[in-house]
Amino acid sequence: MVNDWFITAYEPIRDINNQIVGIIYVGMLEAPFVYLKNRVVSIFIFIAVLSIIALAIISFITVKRITSPINELYQLTERVSKGDLSARAKISSDDEIGELIKSFNQMVDSLQIATEGYVNLTKTLEQKVQEKTNELEKAMEQLVQSEKLSALGRLAAGIAHEINNPLTAILINSHLIKEKVKKDTKLSEKLDMIIDETQRCAKIVSGLLEFSRQTPPEMKLISINEILNKTLILFETVFLANNVKVEISLDKNLPQIMADESKIKQVLTNILLNAIDAMPNGGTLKIHSQLSLDNKFVEIEIEDSGVGIPKENLDRIFDPFFTTKKSKGTGLGLSISYGIIQQHNGSIEVNSEVNKGTKVKIKLPKLEL
Ligand SMILES: Nc1ncnc2c1ncn2[C@@H]1O[C@H](COP(=O)(O)OP(=O)(O)OP(=O)(O)O)[C@@H](O)[C@H]1O
Ligand SMILES: [Mg+2]
Repeated sequence: MVNDWFITAYEPIRDINNQIVGIIYVGMLEAPFVYLKNRVVSIFIFIAVLSIIALAIISFITVKRITSPINELYQLTERVSKGDLSARAKISSDDEIGELIKSFNQMVDSLQIATEGYVNLTKTLEQKVQEKTNELEKAMEQLVQSEKLSALGRLAAGIAHEINNPLTAILINSHLIKEKVKKDTKLSEKLDMIIDETQRCAKIVSGLLEFSRQTPPEMKLISINEILNKTLILFETVFLANNVKVEISLDKNLPQIMADESKIKQVLTNILLNAIDAMPNGGTLKIHSQLSLDNKFVEIEIEDSGVGIPKENLDRIFDPFFTTKKSKGTGLGLSISYGIIQQHNGSIEVNSEVNKGTKVKIKLPKLEL
């Protein structure tokens, strides 16, 4: 009894006459063969599975190497498109992807430079527009002011002439009557009042005449510092009496200018009187002269530490008769000064802050050589 499987083969044996004379039988146990075959198949399957896994891992790594920089680039592009120009990618390889990242970074660099240039240009442009708007506003203000003054000047001249004669008559006659009236009586008190008020009117009229007198200035070569010093000497005792400390800083190298000395003195006097009025309890007065930044003007600055001018009054201080000093002021000081500075082709500007002080800046054109 045979229990094992065999692989067998039979072949007849023939003689020379092709007659079968025997048979060849070959038999081989099947088990070792099947074992070998199974081993080969399982090794093959094992190698195949291993190769598939290796291939999958290699593919995954390769795909990751390509997609992760592209993903990063995509996110950076999003940031750049939203305006974040600081976004840069890290260059991690020397291959095509590395080249792509390098190009991306260069593109953002150029974009950043261009944007900065554009922002700067916009800023400069905005600044220029603002400067020109300010200049235009100032020119408009000056134009309105000079229109107002010239119309009022003509009117004032006419009225002043008409009023001057009757005022003189009232004053002379009041004095004559006063001589005949007993002193320290009710009547003499009333007469004093008439004389005081008439004198005030006469002061207004003379201011008006001054304001409206369109006499051309007598231009001479003068030193602004000298005029400032001469005017300040006249004020020395007034400053002392009013407890005003004066700080002077004059630019010694200022060029001489063409101006009417007495008119400029009048302007300085008006401004100094205003400053003293603004500091009833004393204070500091700063006087400064310099050449303007553009080299075209000689500038005088007079700054007090007084009560200041409220915003709503700033637009009106150059208007004739605008005063906050009730019967003490005529309101003509600054409007006369404005007219004089205009005759000199200069400008006068007032900046003020309530309870801090007021700065008046006068600009007079430098002599063109
Ligand atoms: N330095 C100053 N500080 C505060 N207020 C000022 C100053 N300068 C001018 N002002 C204001 O401007 C107004 C007009 O000034 P302006 O010199 O024209 O007239 P006034 O001083 O009132 O009178 P006048 O000068 O004719 O005697 C003043 O009444 C005052 O309210
Ligand atoms: Mg005044």
